[in-house]
Amino acid sequence: MMYQILRDLLFRLDAEHAHEWSMGLLSGFCRLPGGRRLIAACYGVREPLLETQAFGLRFPNPVGLAAGFDKNAEHLEALSALGFGFVEIGTVTPRPQPGNPRPRLFRLPADQALINRMGFNNDGVEAVGRRLADWRTHHWDEPGRMLIGGNIGKNKDTPNEEAWRDYEACFLQLHGMVDYFVVNVSSPNTPGLRALQETEALTGILGRLQEANARMPERVPILLKIAPDLSDAQIDDIANLTLKMALDGVVANNTSIARNPLSERSRRLAAAIGTGGLSGAPICERSLQVLKRIREKTQNELPVIASGGILNCWDAQERLRSGACLVQVWTGFVYGGPSTASSICKLLLHGIGTKNQKYTH
Ligand SMILES: Cc1cc2nc3c(=O)[nH]c(=O)nc-3n(C[C@H](O)[C@H](O)[C@H](O)COP(=O)(O)O)c2cc1C
Repeated sequence: MMYQILRDLLFRLDAEHAHEWSMGLLSGFCRLPGGRRLIAACYGVREPLLETQAFGLRFPNPVGLAAGFDKNAEHLEALSALGFGFVEIGTVTPRPQPGNPRPRLFRLPADQALINRMGFNNDGVEAVGRRLADWRTHHWDEPGRMLIGGNIGKNKDTPNEEAWRDYEACFLQLHGMVDYFVVNVSSPNTPGLRALQETEALTGILGRLQEANARMPERVPILLKIAPDLSDAQIDDIANLTLKMALDGVVANNTSIARNPLSERSRRLAAAIGTGGLSGAPICERSLQVLKRIREKTQNELPVIASGGILNCWDAQERLRSGACLVQVWTGFVYGGPSTASSICKLLLHGIGTKNQKYTH
């Protein structure tokens, strides 16, 4: 209720400014004496029954925040107080880059959706690595701590033939700072990036990363994040390749370039907005299909983190029942507010998710 009032105010601001402002405020509050503890008392999740094992890691609960929300690892304290079991930082690139010109993030409230064309704006792997090292110093040994995924990508001006160097550089720099890696080859907002989902290109990148991983004193799980716009045949190829390359799993999936799942009203808005990746409720159905396809094609062997259109507990429950080991939210957090992770967790625990928890504007 409180968030609904705040959300109406926030939704009057430009979407990216609202995001920066609200997260800045929350993180600032967490730095005040007793601030973090208060937030954690309201929204924290500490429930052993929700602990989830996936690719050799123990997650305090299966509800995570998807990549792109805390690109620069600036809000980890606040996000852990809000009850997330894990946060995927990034996408991080070797060199800092500004991303596309603003405005580049747009709401489609009638459909509980967003369109973004951020373009991997981030502070670069060195700066993000420093923040993660700081987080590690304070929290790494805490029992039941929130886990951190490192989502890595390539700089816009790196040609695809050289892309492996960018992924390897990010991997080496963040190794030991994150609990798992996600290789992002599926953002629609870096020109040509999604071509890296083709078998030959992927084999080159993943092979180098696996070699680098094998040289490390401790191996870290590596997952691949794919687009929902792949054909079923392409998904099958990627599922086979992922098993062949002994990857630890897949994140299914990123935003979509499709506009057909939108209502008439949102489609008109989307046409005015232009290019970008669609997220939220309209990609829910396709994301579920992608998840089911991968699980089926890999005889349920390949762990999948479900991402795409998870707005409430019912959506989360459906993905987990369809074989996902973990779920991630992004757009659902914008529409649902600070209680998103904790309320999904509570309802998962009691098994009473209902489809009626929809946002209405
Ligand atoms: C503004 C915005 C920025 C994003 N940035 C990234 C990113 O940098 N890397 C990435 O892998 N995914 C990124 N994503 C995709 C999300 O991680 C997620 O996979 C997608 O939004 C689908 O989930 P949702 O429907 O819950 O939002 C971004 C999404 C949004 C809305």
